[in-house]
Amino acid sequence: MKEKFLEVLRTTKQNVFVLAAEKGEEKHAMTVSSVFSVSLEPMSMMVSVNQQAGIHDVLQVNDKFSLNLLASNQIEIAEICSGSEEGQVRFEHDDWETEEIPYLKNAQSNLFCSCKKIIPLYSHSLVIGEVDKIFHSGNMNPLIYQDGKYVS
Ligand SMILES: Cc1cc2nc3c(=O)[nH]c(=O)nc-3n(C[C@H](O)[C@H](O)[C@H](O)COP(=O)(O)O)c2cc1C
Repeated sequence: MKEKFLEVLRTTKQNVFVLAAEKGEEKHAMTVSSVFSVSLEPMSMMVSVNQQAGIHDVLQVNDKFSLNLLASNQIEIAEICSGSEEGQVRFEHDDWETEEIPYLKNAQSNLFCSCKKIIPLYSHSLVIGEVDKIFHSGNMNPLIYQDGKYVS
């Protein structure tokens, strides 16, 4: 049944985000698609993060993170942030702005969040944040992932 479950999930079209956060000098970023808007009042988002992921222990309640909704021409950064090299090397790309909370300048949109709750569940943690600030390009051409590949 697990194979069928994966088969069903592979049929879905998923938006692709990069989640970014830092703790002291330590910066982390990872590609995520299990991202949902939770509520409008307050504006809040949830992302499901594998407990084995490098960014997992960097995320702390009351700290900040960014959710960067990728544009269709950002496959390269999606691949970097889900590739085998982790940690600081993922930030060796011109799209990053890292002065405060790291974010991707050329993303379709950036949602800057304050982490409110982290709920460990199974292999993952559900990370919930309230949206403090938004940059939106006004474009409507997000990167889409389906059947194990990026599609346009
Ligand atoms: C399109 C796509 C979506 C992904 N979505 C998630 C996700 O929502 N949550 C998650 O924990 N990992 C997700 N991953 C896997 C992580 O990006 C990947 O395992 C990453 O390398 C983890 O970071 P680390 O190497 O620093 O541990 C996704 C990967 C891809 C390619």
